[in-house]
Amino acid sequence: MSVLYDDIGELVTNDPAVGDGTTLGVVTDAALVTDGDRIVWLGPKAGAPEADQRVDCADASVLPGFVDSHAHLVFAGDRAAEFAARMTGTPYDGGGIATTVAATRAASDEALTANLTRLANELHRGGVTTFETKSGYGLTTVDELRSLVLGARLTDETTFLGAHVVPREYQDDRDAYVRLVAGDMLDECREHARWIDVFCDRGAFDVDEARFILAAGIEAGLTPRLHAAQLGPSAGIGLAVELGAASVDHCTYATDADVAALAGGETVATLLPGAEFSTRATWPDGRRFLDAGVTVALATDCNPGSSYTTSMAFCIAVAVRDMGFTPAEAVWSATAGGARALRRDDVGVLAVGRRADFIRLDAPSYIHLAYRPGVPIIGDVVRGGTRL
Ligand code: NIG
Ligand code: FE
Repeated sequence: MSVLYDDIGELVTNDPAVGDGTTLGVVTDAALVTDGDRIVWLGPKAGAPEADQRVDCADASVLPGFVDSHAHLVFAGDRAAEFAARMTGTPYDGGGIATTVAATRAASDEALTANLTRLANELHRGGVTTFETKSGYGLTTVDELRSLVLGARLTDETTFLGAHVVPREYQDDRDAYVRLVAGDMLDECREHARWIDVFCDRGAFDVDEARFILAAGIEAGLTPRLHAAQLGPSAGIGLAVELGAASVDHCTYATDADVAALAGGETVATLLPGAEFSTRATWPDGRRFLDAGVTVALATDCNPGSSYTTSMAFCIAVAVRDMGFTPAEAVWSATAGGARALRRDDVGVLAVGRRADFIRLDAPSYIHLAYRPGVPIIGDVVRGGTRL
C-alpha cells in the first residue's frame, strides 16, 4: 500500500542533489510517498503523485530517522549512586563496569530481554529507527554469546565487545583473557555479531592487545570499530584508521595527529555527548573534526555507567550547545553520519529506493531539536514504512 505524506513544511533528505543544495538537501513545501518499506517518491508537494492513503504533516519538519551507531543495551541493574557520586567530584574511570558485569551475569535471559526491549522502545519513541548494540557486560564466553543472541533479536547491528575490560577473575593474567577473547570466545560469538570492538583506553586494553584482538576478529569475518581516547589520549585512533575500521568512538582526547589521520582515512569519528555529560568530562571539540573534513557521527552510547540516555535529540542539543556543531551538522551526524558509521547506505538519507525510515517533528524545523532541549517534539516515527 502506498502512503502520501503531504504538506511537509521542511523535508530534510541528506541528499545534496535535491532541494536547497546544502548537505541536508532541504526541500520546502514537500511531500514524500512510501510503498511498503521503501520511499518511492519525494519532492515539492505540488508534483506529488496519488497514493492509497494520505497523511497530513501540517507543515511540520520531516527528517531521516536517527541512526544510533553506538549503544550498550544488554545489561542488568543501574549505577545511579555512581552517577550521583560523580556529580560531587568522584571521577569516572570505567571501574563501575565490573558492577554491571556482576549484575548481568546474575540476570535471567528474561530480565535481560525485558531491559533491552524497554531501551529499544525508548530509542524508537525518541526517533531512532536503526540502532547498534554491543556485548561487553558478560565477559565469559557463555555470557558474551548470550548478550549477542539477545541483542540480535532486536537489531542486525550487533558488536562483539568481549574486550570491554579485563574481568576480575583474570586480573592476574590479562594475557590469558586477551587470548580467550581472540580465541574461543570469538569462535562462539562470531556468528552472532557483525562487528568487533575493543575499549582501547587507560585501564582497559592497550593498542597491542587491541591490534591482536581486532586482527583475530577480522580473520573471523567481523568488521572492526573501536572505543578510544575517552579517558586519555590513545593510539587506538591511529589503529582504527590503519585497520580501516568503520568507526572510532569517543575521541574525546584526540590529538591533532589523530584528527589528521582520520581526515585522511575512511574511519568515521563517532562523538558521544552523553558520555561527557554524564561523566562531567571535557567536551570534545566537534569543530576540529568537522573543519578537518572528518566524517562525524553522533550516538547515544546508552549504557548504565557513562551515558544512560537513549535520546538522540539530547545528544544533538549538547553537540550544538557545547561541542561546536551547527544544528545542521548535528542533525546530519545523528542520521547520515550514524549510517556511515554502520556502513549502511539504505538508511540515513531520504531518497527513492531507500528505506522509509523517518521522523515527523512537532515543530517547523530540525533546528528545534537543539532549540527546544528536553521537549518531546518527536511526533510520528516511521520505520520501514510503518508508524511505530
Ligand atoms: O562507551 N567506554 C567504555 N564503555 C562504556 C562505558 C561502560 C560503563 O561505564 O559501564 C562507554 O562509555
Ligand atoms: Fe561505549
